[in-house]
Amino acid sequence: MSRLIVVSNRVPLPQPDQPQAGGLAVVLSDALSRRGGLWFGWSGQLTDYPASGPDHLHHDGIDYATIPLTRADYDDFYLGYANAVIWPVFHFNLGAMDYQRRYSHGYARVNARFADLLAPLVDPDDTIWIHDYHLMPLARELRERGLRNRIGFFLHIPFPDYDVLRAMPGHRGLLEDLCRFDLLGFQTDNDRHSFEESATRAIGALVRSSGRLRHRNRDLHTGVYPVGVAVDELADLSARTLTTPAVQRLLDGLGERDLVIGVDRLDYSKGLEQRFRAFESLLEDYPHRRGHTVLMQIASPSRGDIAEYAELRQRLEGLSGHINGAYGDLDWAPIHYLNRTFERGAVMGLYRAAGVGVVTPLRDGMNLVAKEFVASQDPDNPGVLVLSELAGAAAELTDAIQVNPYDTDAIAAGLNQALAMPLPERRRRYQRMMTVLRECDIGSWEQRLLDDLGGERD
Ligand code: G6P
Repeated sequence: MSRLIVVSNRVPLPQPDQPQAGGLAVVLSDALSRRGGLWFGWSGQLTDYPASGPDHLHHDGIDYATIPLTRADYDDFYLGYANAVIWPVFHFNLGAMDYQRRYSHGYARVNARFADLLAPLVDPDDTIWIHDYHLMPLARELRERGLRNRIGFFLHIPFPDYDVLRAMPGHRGLLEDLCRFDLLGFQTDNDRHSFEESATRAIGALVRSSGRLRHRNRDLHTGVYPVGVAVDELADLSARTLTTPAVQRLLDGLGERDLVIGVDRLDYSKGLEQRFRAFESLLEDYPHRRGHTVLMQIASPSRGDIAEYAELRQRLEGLSGHINGAYGDLDWAPIHYLNRTFERGAVMGLYRAAGVGVVTPLRDGMNLVAKEFVASQDPDNPGVLVLSELAGAAAELTDAIQVNPYDTDAIAAGLNQALAMPLPERRRRYQRMMTVLRECDIGSWEQRLLDDLGGERD
């Protein structure tokens, strides 16, 4: 029987109660635990010498095959080309790009090593599904080793406009490499359109019809597959975890105060500084909120070896300290800033306990926190979502209060509107968003993409 092989840079190896940061790990764990298969990628470990073969582990129906990276790979591939070049450019942030030639070499080297160690594990009728921006050359590398399997790719992050992309050294080669997949999946129409335009303008690909691209005498399929969440599981989980002692202690401490919650990786694309400033504007411009509202911001540390991230961490500490010092009172600190990762169940309980969820990235592929927040609400007394119009999720969650994440006054007004929203309107918005989430949940995301990939042959 044909197996599914999932490949991603980040592979969260099963460890009891291990918190999972980042949407990709959560989504792929859910997807693979349903259908089983092999998950190949980086173990998260560093080593002195390049790995000669993967480490294998079997857990809960999933075979894990993982490899460590060398320190040079970590620096040049992971911190370098993936996260200091592709990540900022694909999030439309050219100012944060830090390019060095050795980063390109590291990116090529690690993709080649992934192919060397993965190819022997692949049977001819396996389907290979590769994830995210770290591994764009991998289909080409595997084809060069003789593999003729169906190979699909899903990009979890946005795809930039061509005029942004063309500032990135190496973009033509990456576009060529992407054209070696059988199927390319994007989060939104906008992302797919930007890819098609880039491939047309930079490497002369031809759009044959919607969803069909021709390049170097072969056709590939492009599709839009917005990542979803496991709606009913999250609703159950949040109802259960709401009553855990940790969440109840928090609620006791809040008393009658309104809780606004934000949960993000500590990343400059998430708009955290603007969010803190917006919360300050809320306290300044809507003084009746002072003393009655708390922003709990969980920001899990991420990519701290990159200067941009370490500096952001410091600025956020300064900002939250400033706001608490300027507005706090003996019995109230406006911002509860937690710089660590929490276990998933606890976070779902916190979502359910909060009256407002605030998700204001400057750019985001999808943003699953937005979807998880909605799915976690109590149907009888749901909270309200304040959502950036520049998150992929904004295309589906049109019943959130949508704001421009750069406009701190608009975020403050959105928060105030959310805090004041009457119950009937909250219920209406919640029900409409739940209908959308159910139509496009995690199961259908995976099914649709794999069905489309199944029809494609090299
Ligand atoms: C985003 C990316 C993922 C990545 C995750 C965590 O969700 O799309 O590919 O795994 O962030 O980032 P990290 O650098 O820790 O893997």
